[in-house]
Amino acid sequence: MSEDTENSLGKLDPEKYEIDSDGLPIEIVGPWVLDKQALMRKYIDISKSARKKYIGSGNAGATYIDLFCGPGRIRVNGGRGAMPGGPLIAFSEAKKFSPFTEIHVADANERLVRAATKRLEKDNAPVRFETGLASATVSKVIAKLNPAGLHFAFLDPYSLQALPFSVLEELARLRRIDILVHISAQDLQRNLRRNFDRENSPLDQFAPGWRGKVDFSSSDDLVIRGKILEHWRSLLKGLGMDTAEAGQLITGTGNQRLYWLALIAKNPLALEFWQKITDNKQPKLL
Ligand SMILES: C[S@@+](CC[C@H](N)C(=O)[O-])C[C@H]1O[C@@H](n2cnc3c(N)ncnc32)[C@H](O)[C@@H]1O
Repeated sequence: MSEDTENSLGKLDPEKYEIDSDGLPIEIVGPWVLDKQALMRKYIDISKSARKKYIGSGNAGATYIDLFCGPGRIRVNGGRGAMPGGPLIAFSEAKKFSPFTEIHVADANERLVRAATKRLEKDNAPVRFETGLASATVSKVIAKLNPAGLHFAFLDPYSLQALPFSVLEELARLRRIDILVHISAQDLQRNLRRNFDRENSPLDQFAPGWRGKVDFSSSDDLVIRGKILEHWRSLLKGLGMDTAEAGQLITGTGNQRLYWLALIAKNPLALEFWQKITDNKQPKLL
C-alpha cells in the first residue's frame, strides 16, 4: 500500500503538512500565500487574450509549468478551511476564459507531486508530472513541450539555492515563455553576509559570477543586494529575457520582508501586464 493511501504523513514534516479529507497531504502556510495567489490569478487573467491565440485545434498550445508545485492544496495556519494551492489556482483561473492546454508539475518530493497530480486529475486538468530537483526536471518537462507554444512557468522555491540560474537558462530556450519567480528575501537580507563567506553560497547557484560584481567593502546591505540583483538581471538579459523593475514584495504578518515575486519575460507585453497588476508604490526590486 502506498504512503498516500495510508492517511499518514510518513516522512513529511508535521509542522508543515497535514493530511486532508481526501487522504492526501496538504501544506500549512502563512497568510501571505494568499497575496501570492492573488497576484498569480491577476497575471493569468490579464494574459488571457494572449493565451487564447494559442489554444484550440491546429494551434501550438498554452502551457503552465510548475517545477516546485507542492501538494496542490493548502491550509492557512490558524485558519480552518483547506484551499487550492498554486497549480490548481492556475488551472482554474485560466479555465474561465482560455484554459491551459497542458499543465506540467514537478517537485523534489514525490509524495507532494503525486498529490498535486491526483488533485489536478480530479479536476480534469491535462496534467503530466516529473519528480526531482528543478535543475533536473526542467529539461524533462521542456522535452514534452511544443516549442511553438506559449508557456508560463511558476518557480516558487523556498530559497535562492533551489533556484539555480541553469533552470532559467533552460527555460529561456523556449521561444515564448513568461516566468513568475519567487526570490527569497531572507537569503538576500538576513543571510546576506553569511552567504558571502560560504564556499557553496546559495548566491553561486542563483547568480553565477556575482562575486566579481559586488563591492564587499560596502557597509550598506541594500547596495549589495541591488548589485547582486543587477547582475542576475544582466545574466537574464544575456538570455534575451528581462524582468520588470517592480518586484512585488510579499511581507509577513509582522511586515517582515519574505520574498519578492518577479516576472521574467521575453515579450515586452508580458512586462507591461506585470506593471499593471503590481503595486508600484512598493520599493523596487532592481
Ligand atoms: C513553496 S512550496 C510550493 C508551493 C506551491 N508553489 C503552491 O503555490 O502551492 C515549495 C516546494 O518546492 C519543493 N522543492 C524545494 N526545493 C526544490 C528543488 N530544488 N527542486 C524542486 N522542488 C523543490 C518543496 O518540496 C515544496 O513542495
